Amino acid sequence: MKLAPSLLSADFARLLDEASLVAPLASYLHWDVMDAHFVPNLTFGPPVVNALRRRLDVPFEIHLMIDHPAEYAPQFDVRSGDTILFHIEATDSPSATMDAIARTGAEVGVSLRPRTPLEAVLPLLDRVSTVLVMSVEPGFGGQTFRPEALERIRRLAAAIAGRPVRIGVDGGISAGNVRAVVAAGAEIIVAGSAIFGAADRPAAMRALLEAAR
Ligand code: DX5
Ligand code: ZN
Repeated sequence: MKLAPSLLSADFARLLDEASLVAPLASYLHWDVMDAHFVPNLTFGPPVVNALRRRLDVPFEIHLMIDHPAEYAPQFDVRSGDTILFHIEATDSPSATMDAIARTGAEVGVSLRPRTPLEAVLPLLDRVSTVLVMSVEPGFGGQTFRPEALERIRRLAAAIAGRPVRIGVDGGISAGNVRAVVAAGAEIIVAGSAIFGAADRPAAMRALLEAAR
């Protein structure tokens, strides 16, 4: 299991401190880029993510919840091992979007909303390294996990059928459900409020790792 703390729930006035604090137990740092069009919320974009990228060594997972992902992907100064995820609902040209992300040097990931049929991403499995299953409606932290995500993760794991594709899950993850999502087949566990809502962030991460065993 790979833990990916989502900085969406961090103290934005202390982003570097918050990221540095969770970095030792993190496999990825998860950055939720929102544009107030694809989702009804607005967060941060390339200047903020790039400034933090220069100061941190953990791989970044950049979750683009924006329209026109192919236009914005090149604006991120990624390192080898970083992943840029786009939403399948955000583009009519997934192939061009995957090309644009691959040209940055990042690994390519695709994400899908809870109501989007899983079939929408299955044709992409030979070209992506991560599929991120949203277990809440994208846009905000602190929402309740949708249990139907478990069956979607299981179906996705079966469809991946040995390809080198990781399954991520994003939204409403807590110590109470992390074991179930890992058992279903999720490898990358994104968690925002479960980590940054706790006074002791590293202890909250250890609790998630422990609960997943
Ligand atoms: C939601 C974001 C998530 C969010 C998860 O649109 O994609 O990454 O930070 O937050 P929690 O873990 O609080 O549901
Ligand atoms: Zn996210």
